[in-house]
Amino acid sequence: MREIPGDHGLPLIGPIKDRLDFFYNQGRDLFFQSRARKYNSTVFRANMPPGPFITSNPKVIVLLDAKSFPVLFDVTKVEKRDVFTGTFMPSTQLTGGYRILSYLDPSEPRHDQLKRLIFFLLQSRSSHVIPEFHSSYTTLFQTLEKELAYKGKASFGDANDQAAFNFLTRALFGTNPSDTSLGSDGPSIIQKWLLFQIGPIMVLGLPKFLEDPTLHTFRIPAFLIKKDYRRLYDFFYHASGSVLDEAVRFGIPKEEACHNLIFATCFNSFGGMKIFFPSMLKWIASAGVKLHALLAEEVREAVNSNDGKVTMAAMEKMPLMKSVVYEAFRIAPPVPLQYGKAKRNLVIESHDNAFLVKEGEMLFGFQPFATKDPKIFERAEEFVPDRFVGEGEKLLKHVLWSNGPETENPTLGNKQCAGKDFVVLFSRLLVVELFLRYDSFDVEVGNSPLGGASVTFTSLHKASF
Ligand code: HEM
Repeated sequence: MREIPGDHGLPLIGPIKDRLDFFYNQGRDLFFQSRARKYNSTVFRANMPPGPFITSNPKVIVLLDAKSFPVLFDVTKVEKRDVFTGTFMPSTQLTGGYRILSYLDPSEPRHDQLKRLIFFLLQSRSSHVIPEFHSSYTTLFQTLEKELAYKGKASFGDANDQAAFNFLTRALFGTNPSDTSLGSDGPSIIQKWLLFQIGPIMVLGLPKFLEDPTLHTFRIPAFLIKKDYRRLYDFFYHASGSVLDEAVRFGIPKEEACHNLIFATCFNSFGGMKIFFPSMLKWIASAGVKLHALLAEEVREAVNSNDGKVTMAAMEKMPLMKSVVYEAFRIAPPVPLQYGKAKRNLVIESHDNAFLVKEGEMLFGFQPFATKDPKIFERAEEFVPDRFVGEGEKLLKHVLWSNGPETENPTLGNKQCAGKDFVVLFSRLLVVELFLRYDSFDVEVGNSPLGGASVTFTSLHKASF
């Protein structure tokens, strides 16, 4: 048993110092590494941004190893009410005045109803996912090829935003945005709306003396996005008629259901694809042409022996492709910060010590350190494409991107990602579509505001066999 090391510093000064260290002076990884080294512990106290004046209480207990981290999944031990974005919660004015599913604890009756609705949506539209992904991402690759031919390079980000939004709205709601008054404005509206919500924990790359006192210190007033959000609302309200009827049967008013569908599609899904797709491409590109050749062979063989069709069954016959997707989730989990408040006094164990946590204290896990824990994974810092092939599948219980082990499933009673299977499916589809079309590719990599990657293609080599 050990006392939790670390402290929160002086009021105001401590939280601001930690925020500057986190965003600018040290950066995310070094912020945690340096403190873990100083305290000789993977569990310690610190402040998490944004802090003053957005958060009233930025104090957290940081968890950085694979043993202590999973306490955050145990909803008998932690409360997940209003902690989706961390120690602050964006204004509900950004979501029609409602607390959305992601912010609800499973003990709240609405959690059950709303999660049921998302399960219903995904289930009822499942047959549309593979064809709509093919259609949207074929357009994306055609766009990139043209740009590459014209300029010598092609940025993935903007094309991915359009492709992801078109895919999601066509697959989940059967509506093509360009056939409506929303046109191609969806992605840019969503990005602004996301900035209003998670600006306090983003780095845009402006000078820090400008960015920190504005973006991280005060909220952007919600009314500034009201008109744009209304356009999204009208689009989704019209697109989701039958889902809204189902919502009423579950006991959820249509308006509240619609705000939840917007959030699930635009924040959870679009936001996830925006972070994860470039990240996965970055890692696959970095593994080089030898991996690309193996993937191309595996993917094409499985599809050819399935009458040329991409199906779930065909993808099951692609063990390397599946492992590559899991490895990308392990090495860079797209939602890296997880929070939960201790429901009662608890003992938390790291590999080396046990710690007493008091009721009401905020626990915070930095997931990339839990999924790169060297006590669990060999060569933990390396992208090992076939890590989860064969015997390696046993390690999948330590892949945690969905707010739970990869070997477990979302339920009405837990807080695991409602879209887990859908996410694994569309991520696999990206790799499959890529290697059906190309033998290999090269990218340049830059930084992006949420700590992910920004990817620019410098070559796309068309399939030669
Ligand atoms: C790459 C894509 C995605 C990632 C990385 C991701 C990750 C996560 C994580 C980490 C959580 C838990 C957050 C927390 O409570 O601390 C979560 C919850 C959730 N996700 Fe996902 N997600 C993705 C895509 C999706 C999709 C496609 C949907 C639905 C269409 C979805 C719906 C949800 C919902 C509804 C919750 C709240 C679950 C609950 O309250 O029980 N997510 N997701």
